[in-house]
Amino acid sequence: MNRRDRLIARVRQGYRLAFGTKGPEPRRFFAAPGRVNLIGEHVDYNDGYVLPCAINRETLVAAGSGPEVGGRGYVEAVAIDAGQAREKIALYAPIQRTEDSWRNLIRGAVAFLESRGYGVLPTRLAIAGDVPMGAGLSSSASFTVAVTLALAQLSRIPLAADELAMVAKEAENAFLGTACGIMDPMACAASSMGSALLLDCRSLQHMPIPVSKKLSLIIIDSGIRRELANSAFNTRRRESEAAARHFGVKALRDLTMDALEAGSSDVDPVLASRARHVVSEIARVEPTAVALSQGDAAALSRLMRASHVSLRDDYEVTVPEVDRLTDTVWAALGDGDDALGGVRMTGAGFGGSVVAVVRKSAVERVFDAVQKTYNSTAQIRASADVYTMAGGAREVTPA
Ligand code: GLA
Repeated sequence: MNRRDRLIARVRQGYRLAFGTKGPEPRRFFAAPGRVNLIGEHVDYNDGYVLPCAINRETLVAAGSGPEVGGRGYVEAVAIDAGQAREKIALYAPIQRTEDSWRNLIRGAVAFLESRGYGVLPTRLAIAGDVPMGAGLSSSASFTVAVTLALAQLSRIPLAADELAMVAKEAENAFLGTACGIMDPMACAASSMGSALLLDCRSLQHMPIPVSKKLSLIIIDSGIRRELANSAFNTRRRESEAAARHFGVKALRDLTMDALEAGSSDVDPVLASRARHVVSEIARVEPTAVALSQGDAAALSRLMRASHVSLRDDYEVTVPEVDRLTDTVWAALGDGDDALGGVRMTGAGFGGSVVAVVRKSAVERVFDAVQKTYNSTAQIRASADVYTMAGGAREVTPA
């Protein structure tokens, strides 16, 4: 059984257990992937360009019609990975926040579909997934996009990928209280297999960038867990907004390097550094898209290194263990024209994962380097895996 079939079997069984073996079977199945960002970090909420891709780990939802008693309908859900915990949401009453993250994500999805004027029909959902949690691979966006898609489809609501992503983002922002941007749900909703997603976070225009078959995608989980809501993420967001105000632009996407240098003398140096990261990072996105499609390992090395250094020194979102891990892999891949690929921290930072895009022949070197870091750094237990670039959220059919 492959990964997808195992998940389908789990949600099918979880659905029966939760909603009764005698009741109707789940009618349909929906999947939404996790994501890794290749470049364009801390750029989405500054309205810039990003380049994530969906990965072959996903949230799977089994869905069927839900109960309706005396004209009063409910969404019922079971979270298989949360010990088969249950949730029941009345569709005829205002929807409130609660303590559990997963419950809030479902409540938020229902609430924001309805706030757009869509009527959510009574639905039953059984949810399970294999996106690693807390590793910076968007397990929560994958969860919310999968649930939103299932609710919309069972309610016959036609949602384009960008509207699906907007609902998921609003649900996370309002019901989970995280100030995350549009990149993660868009990557989960709109990616294409074998491609990265070049996304303009202001207009939401996007296009797939087919990635050269010469390259492999490696994600290294540093093992250091981060709590997005409690981290300095919100502070960075505020600093970016303050910098944009200082430079008189709507968002840092609208600032040029020349204007930044000309106006840096009378601004708090911290804000100038934050702005320098965002402006320089946006400029690296398009060349990285070209390098990925051409399989240009030397260009990837240069661009991803510059991104990491900028996140470390100007944006200050790395931690020493992740810097050390990244440096070790970077050294193993070599430098200059002969470099075998690029490596950088990925996601919000403060722990989480490191991403490498390397020539196929260099995969073993990366694994060896990670092993070496683990052996020499008692505090971290890093693990590396090769991933494939998956397609975005969709209905799936059991084998
Ligand atoms: C988190 C957020 C994203 C994005 C990244 C940093 O993953 O959810 O919206 O801001 O951090 O690039």
